Amino acid sequence: MASDSSECLAGFCPEFRSFATDAIHAGQEPEQWSSMAVVPPISLSTTFKQFSPGKHAGFEYSRSGNPTRNCLEKAVAALDGAQHCVALASGLAATTTIVHMLKTGDGIVCMNDVYGGTNRYFKRIAAEIGYDISFTDCTNLDALKAALKPNTKLLWLETPTNPTMKVLDIKACSEIAHEYNKDIIVVVDNTFMSAYFQRPLALGADMCMYSATKYMNGHSDVVMGLISVSREDLYEKLKYLQNALGAVPSPFDCYLCNRGLKTLHLRMKQHFRNAVAVAQFLEADPRVDKVIFPGLPSHPQYELMKRQCTGCPGMITFYIKGKLEHATAFLRNLKLFALAESLGGYESLAEHPAIMTHASVSKEQRMELGITDTLIRLSVGLEDEEDIIADLDQALGAAHAKN
Ligand SMILES: Cc1ncc(COP(=O)(O)O)c(C=O)c1O
Repeated sequence: MASDSSECLAGFCPEFRSFATDAIHAGQEPEQWSSMAVVPPISLSTTFKQFSPGKHAGFEYSRSGNPTRNCLEKAVAALDGAQHCVALASGLAATTTIVHMLKTGDGIVCMNDVYGGTNRYFKRIAAEIGYDISFTDCTNLDALKAALKPNTKLLWLETPTNPTMKVLDIKACSEIAHEYNKDIIVVVDNTFMSAYFQRPLALGADMCMYSATKYMNGHSDVVMGLISVSREDLYEKLKYLQNALGAVPSPFDCYLCNRGLKTLHLRMKQHFRNAVAVAQFLEADPRVDKVIFPGLPSHPQYELMKRQCTGCPGMITFYIKGKLEHATAFLRNLKLFALAESLGGYESLAEHPAIMTHASVSKEQRMELGITDTLIRLSVGLEDEEDIIADLDQALGAAHAKN
């Protein structure tokens, strides 16, 4: 039986204190500009005049530091409850920058169900270079314990996982890793949750990374990565690599992402409300086999989700009844939802993970994870709830027209 929507929205952790105030004000002080601009200017200059050799006003060259990027990094650090943040050119640039902290031969343990591009990078690039990569199901804490080895230097978590929405216990996983070896760097890919719903650092992780391309920017017009960190030693290394590897975002993109953060709390609340309504609609629909949404009591880790998060984003995965042709017909017939990769923008998107975002994951691994031909991933946007549901309803009708 479908649950009441207020029941689904309640019971999560309370909102992080002063989140909206920090989103709007942290790092944005008008006093930092001689113009006293209330909105941070887009600082396009690639270079900065020095008073005398080596004596400057905090900036030398835009790859090593940029005023607009600084504003964004300070805001994100505040939203993650972190001391620092570094912004990179994409989520994958953030991942590669983190991996550059290690040496070849070092071990990386990765959750077995992660974004397809992360899987591809670890398996096809990092492993080829000589990193010792292993994938394990970190929902099984014994499996995680067994996967850690003397050479393990990095534990890569993503929760909820993409696309099958498994939820990891960040605190338990971090404790296991740090008890095994306190120097293991625990990274959480927080892309699906955004800083509004989950704070991995407060749960024991060492780094919180994002594809800011998604909810953090929230407007589907920027590709960017972010890493928040509180440990000074890790920050120093990341800051060095940000400049030395050079995968930095443009000042214009930093401006846009910084602007996107101003409404993060409002957007995420509405994504949550719309997603609960959609998940309940799908769960009650006979044309749907199964819905996976961590904000529904039917999700196996609903209690864990409530314990470690302040709510759920608009990501819903479901299995349509039938075969590949039903999934394809459903996706082709959507009108309000765009059939497109990516997620986390204000607009509703739908995609077919096996053919689209997770095509780079091997067929065997896809089958193991449940990424089948009938699996569909939705990023529920901020449109009116009734219109979103009406679109899903008519597309399900078109997919099952002959039945
Ligand atoms: C969970 C997750 N992590 C990382 C990435 C990679 O980020 P980007 O596309 O910004 O490089 C993505 C992209 O879809 C993602 O969904």
